[in-house]
Amino acid sequence: MNNDQALYALQQEMEHDESLPLRESNLVFGEGDSHAEVVCIGEAPGAEEDRLQRPFVGRSGKLLTACLLEIGWSRDRVYITNIVKRRPPQNRDPFPEEIQAYAPYLSRQLAIIHPKVIVTLGRFSMNYFIPYGKITRDQGKIFRVRGMLVVPLFHPAAALRSTTTLEAFKKSIKILPRVVAQADTLSLGSPIS
Ligand code: URA
Repeated sequence: MNNDQALYALQQEMEHDESLPLRESNLVFGEGDSHAEVVCIGEAPGAEEDRLQRPFVGRSGKLLTACLLEIGWSRDRVYITNIVKRRPPQNRDPFPEEIQAYAPYLSRQLAIIHPKVIVTLGRFSMNYFIPYGKITRDQGKIFRVRGMLVVPLFHPAAALRSTTTLEAFKKSIKILPRVVAQADTLSLGSPIS
């Protein structure tokens, strides 16, 4: 089975898993290059994502797509998904038990894609990989977690609300090409930006 087939099989399994929470909304599994070097992981789908069953296609998604383009990356060169793959009602924060319920699927998705770098978007996604991380302190830094490099970024929705956050988001996203290029040799703490 190739990566596309493996991801499709996983998606089908999720569709039929009645133990998963939030089944009143649509499954937004993820999209992009199934061999991507970089996987961007948000929190949970919003209204537009639920409607189109695609991740990051609303206002936050447009900002993310534009900022990726600024570093020369089209959306389809990365893979984009969320820790929780169905929309919580009224876009409330995901509950810990929802994050936990979806976690095995995210792990399997990452095991198939096997990226070099994970970019977390927002604190929920960051804390999934780095439990004691603080977004304002740690965004734009590079962590090694279970053999993968993890770069936490602000959530694009936060960047839409504050110019300072937007500037930090844009600055941090610019380090990604070098993180990917140096992923195999990077020793943490080395200056990259
Ligand atoms: N916010 C997220 O965290 N994920 C999406 O897919 C869209 C908005």
